[in-house]
Amino acid sequence: MKKEMMRKGTVMMAVCLTAAAAFGTMTASAEGKKIGISLSSKELARSLKDEEYLTEYLEELGYEVDVQFGQGDANIQASQVENMIMSGVDGLIISPWDGSSMTSVVQLAHENNIPAIAYDANILNSEYIDYYSADDLEEIGATQGRYIVEHLDLDNNEDTFNLEIVAGDPADSNATYFYNGAMEVLKPYIEDGSLNVPSGQIEFSVTGTPGWEASKAQTRMDNILSTYYTDKRVDAVLCSNDGVALGVISSLKSVGYGAEDMPLPITTGQDCDVASIKSIIAGEQTMTVFKDIRELAKNATYMIDCLVNGEEPVIEDYVIYNNGVKDVIAMVVEPKALDINNYQELLFDSGYYSEDVLDME
Ligand code: BGC
Repeated sequence: MKKEMMRKGTVMMAVCLTAAAAFGTMTASAEGKKIGISLSSKELARSLKDEEYLTEYLEELGYEVDVQFGQGDANIQASQVENMIMSGVDGLIISPWDGSSMTSVVQLAHENNIPAIAYDANILNSEYIDYYSADDLEEIGATQGRYIVEHLDLDNNEDTFNLEIVAGDPADSNATYFYNGAMEVLKPYIEDGSLNVPSGQIEFSVTGTPGWEASKAQTRMDNILSTYYTDKRVDAVLCSNDGVALGVISSLKSVGYGAEDMPLPITTGQDCDVASIKSIIAGEQTMTVFKDIRELAKNATYMIDCLVNGEEPVIEDYVIYNNGVKDVIAMVVEPKALDINNYQELLFDSGYYSEDVLDME
């Protein structure tokens, strides 16, 4: 995603008559129609969930689906989508490997009157992308920030707590949204002195983790701890995702945190990676953010069903993601804070993961 004006709000659009297409009922309007689903790579563990749920929900409505994986190669993915268009699909759901390399195929879809929506990652520099099924990226960061504020009880506490910040990959535009969302919550507490950042490393430019690599987060935390924490303890680390959180926790444990008299600080995360769920259960990582792929897939199914039937979706809560040439309306999944108190309900009782995952790896 490029820049990035982001607005939120509520819009009422022309009512999509197929909104009533409750999942599980085949709509006459779906019969004989096919949706092309282009996912970027089978290597991403999550993409199998994307495939599973998109297929399930579209088939429940009566669509046929054609799912293809782009093998982590933008050119392969673009030619797969082109073939779908040529084979006569009625609608497209595209999760691009590289958002900037889908411009011409999306135009081709438009010329053939095939609606196309972006899924999970945005399609850039195209005015022909109809909608976007997305996560609320700033809200993910805000959820992490609020968790820290609430769990240090900053609003009812006179003490000063030490915070460090480990953000995401500067080359991933999502990372900026996460950082901005979190800092909007945390900045006032830094400014009024409730939170102190002993390293002084606050800006995104100095807190990023290239490639989201856990080992880089760990090394940076090692340096921060040995330079700025010889006589103090860290109380919270804002970590943008689960991978960097685990790197930070390894660093903290290597200097003694996690012992009875030296508890680990609050650490945030995002993604509900299995390794992090295990860490939460073990009392190490404090929280992560749950982004329910089932909701993302349901939103995409709803929107493409409307569009294929010539209707506009009704989207009550939306976020605008500018793709370089267009403000794309995104139907967003609200993130949920997940910790030791609700992981069982959100992940296992809901069927999102089977409990077996805890025995794997
Ligand atoms: C995704 C995060 C993920 C990160 C690293 C971001 O673009 O939104 O969910 O943790 O990439 O893979």
